[in-house]
Amino acid sequence: MGKFYSKKPTEAEMDLFLGKDILTSYQFTKEELEIIMHTAAYYEEALAGKKRLYDMDGKIMASLFFEPSTRTRLSFETAMNRLGGSCITVAESVDAHTSSLAKGESIYDSMRVIDTYADVIVCRSPEKGTLKIAAEAAEVPVINAGDGPGQHPTQALLDIYTIFKEKEDLDGLTIALVGDLKHGRTVHSLVDFLAMYHTKLIFCSPSSLPMPEIITQKVRERGVDIEESNNLAEACSKADVIYMTRVQRERFEDVSDYEAVKDEFIINEEMVQKFKSGAIILHPLPRVNEITVGVDQYPGAAYFRQVGNGVPVRMALLALVTGSVK
Ligand code: NCD
Repeated sequence: MGKFYSKKPTEAEMDLFLGKDILTSYQFTKEELEIIMHTAAYYEEALAGKKRLYDMDGKIMASLFFEPSTRTRLSFETAMNRLGGSCITVAESVDAHTSSLAKGESIYDSMRVIDTYADVIVCRSPEKGTLKIAAEAAEVPVINAGDGPGQHPTQALLDIYTIFKEKEDLDGLTIALVGDLKHGRTVHSLVDFLAMYHTKLIFCSPSSLPMPEIITQKVRERGVDIEESNNLAEACSKADVIYMTRVQRERFEDVSDYEAVKDEFIINEEMVQKFKSGAIILHPLPRVNEITVGVDQYPGAAYFRQVGNGVPVRMALLALVTGSVK
């Protein structure tokens, strides 16, 4: 399992997480990241052994998704169920009709209420910054499952876990982050973890969708070598890891701007032939058209392996923030 073998956290390591909110990737130290990786490997091993776990027996996770989600919500709920805990869920757009947000209740008040039901809250919101308010309102740990174009730290953790599993180590790798770098919250979170290792980064996007300058600058200040590019084939041919992303349609004010750019970056079978030997392709999913289906046959197409890593990584997070690793 690459550098991170199965290792149960010590009491002192667990204390680093107990009661903590998980809102951004930049809140973590490298030591904390590596504890999460070892704990995820520990749960991956437990899952493979088909043992029934009771680590979170009697605990409740509230999952509140005010933006569409398949993988993130279901993998958090699977993780909680696998740990022997239970879930309560609200999944709706803010203007839908099943929770009191639709009646005009503030996120602050909703969180004060849900805090009295649950031991941990997982929340996705269409607006950047909402999770900070949620975390202030709730006393139990709040986990950001994506806040608009802001952050998506738990996806970035499973992305890092996947790179370690697939490539053994991160030091020495060239990683191309590709696609809608302007709006993609997964890449905004991922760069903080990549910057903890000796990596070279290529930020490759259509010219209208670059990585926000503030993020590029922050990562450069940490001494990371960053190349910026608009040339998909060239950037991919230099990389050991190609992290592809979807053009985030829902973040465009004018749909014609989306239409103009949506077919600009597509990885197809012909392009894959020019990749470095052993290169892997990751994608947080959902895929629209940015990777052709034929590419799925390529051994380095790791995106469906990547998605499965969401369960042990989220088990680790849930158990760590509630102090439940048994
Ligand atoms: C991502 C997200 O929601 O930001 N999906 C996910 O959580 N796996 C990526 C996306 O929607 O493009």
